[in-house]
Amino acid sequence: MNAELGQEHAAEPVLEARDLVKHFPVQRGIVFKRTVGHVQAVDGVDLELHAGKTLGVVGESGCGKSTLAKLLVGLEPPTSGSINLLGQEIGNLPQRKIRPHRRDIQLVFQDPYTSLNPRMTVGDIVAEPFAIHPGVVPKDKVTAEVKELLDLVGLSPDHVNRYPHQFSGGQRQRIGIARALALRPQILVCDEPVSALDVSIQGQVINLLERLRDELGLAYVFIAHDLSVVRHIADEVAVMYLGKIVERGTAAEIYDHPRHPYTQALLSAVPVPDPELRGRREEIILQGDVPSPINPPSGCRFRTRCWKATERCAEEVPSLDVGDNGTRPPVSHHHPNQPEGSTHPTACFYAEEKDVTHAVK
Ligand SMILES: Nc1ncnc2c1ncn2[C@@H]1O[C@H](COP(=O)(O)OP(=O)(O)O)[C@@H](O)[C@H]1O
Ligand code: SF4
Ligand SMILES: [Mg+2]
Repeated sequence: MNAELGQEHAAEPVLEARDLVKHFPVQRGIVFKRTVGHVQAVDGVDLELHAGKTLGVVGESGCGKSTLAKLLVGLEPPTSGSINLLGQEIGNLPQRKIRPHRRDIQLVFQDPYTSLNPRMTVGDIVAEPFAIHPGVVPKDKVTAEVKELLDLVGLSPDHVNRYPHQFSGGQRQRIGIARALALRPQILVCDEPVSALDVSIQGQVINLLERLRDELGLAYVFIAHDLSVVRHIADEVAVMYLGKIVERGTAAEIYDHPRHPYTQALLSAVPVPDPELRGRREEIILQGDVPSPINPPSGCRFRTRCWKATERCAEEVPSLDVGDNGTRPPVSHHHPNQPEGSTHPTACFYAEEKDVTHAVK
């Protein structure tokens, strides 16, 4: 083993989830509540995040991204599975014991218009975590700390006494980021942090997050519903469909060598500004809607929309692990740039590279 490889193995992930499950009971009745089913919002998710890195999590609306985010930061208890945060198991801890660990992992919310209390000043909003975790910053230093946080996210420290409505959407998301950073966490879980913003502002907020990650040595789980949003910030990408991760790899593997039909469809739908390139590209239009997570399809959950589905796909659940269920493609399917015999985890019996990205670069 060479030294570099050895080092990589020595670095423990800062966050690790194993077989994470969240099922919400569906209840009927007013006086006698009966559980008549479960929403399988997150159903067996594994992930790993390393210091200083960004893991992008991408999938359509309703596939369980926000639920996963809440599980990771300890806002929802998992139905089963484990979450290891900085070497500590937190998945099974009672809520009151999770609180000290919450300092290390913070959530940046999707909608900066609803996630900030309109009746609180920006100074009070950013200082709120210090009230919940007293002892992190001495009381007489709180104002100075808040001003420094505002400066860090590119806002004027003189605006501490303003209210959220006096800021634009992009500025409000900066306030949300300042609040998330107040307790000096090591990890941010960003749940679609730019989805509610104008496209012209999205890049600025992503650049800010990137700069903060590098300057503060943070690690991110960065959630988006569109693969184009995480393209520049993510080191690794996990593609989610109906509560499960269907493909996982480095950004280069996912964007340049997508193997799961769902990833290929998502990538083929990424808008291309150049009309000539657009014309050369084959767009894969997915048929039908996302099925209900209350009663997901048997076998492969993607099969009702997959153009490659066979009988096997209805009977067996494809595993994400490379090598299982025939997910390792024949060598002839390897891209010339990939080392022979290597491939990335794809939960599909017929995983095969398809060039849907050459025009998206
Ligand atoms: N508290 C809850 N109770 C019941 N169902 C929920 C709850 N939260 C989310 N869900 C359901 O779980 C599924 C995943 O939702 P969510 O995690 O918000 O997805 P996403 O963020 O990818 O849009 C959806 O079907 C949603 O309706
Ligand atoms: S396992 Fe079958 S249904 Fe699922 S993605 Fe692969 S080919 Fe499609
Ligand atoms: Mg969501």
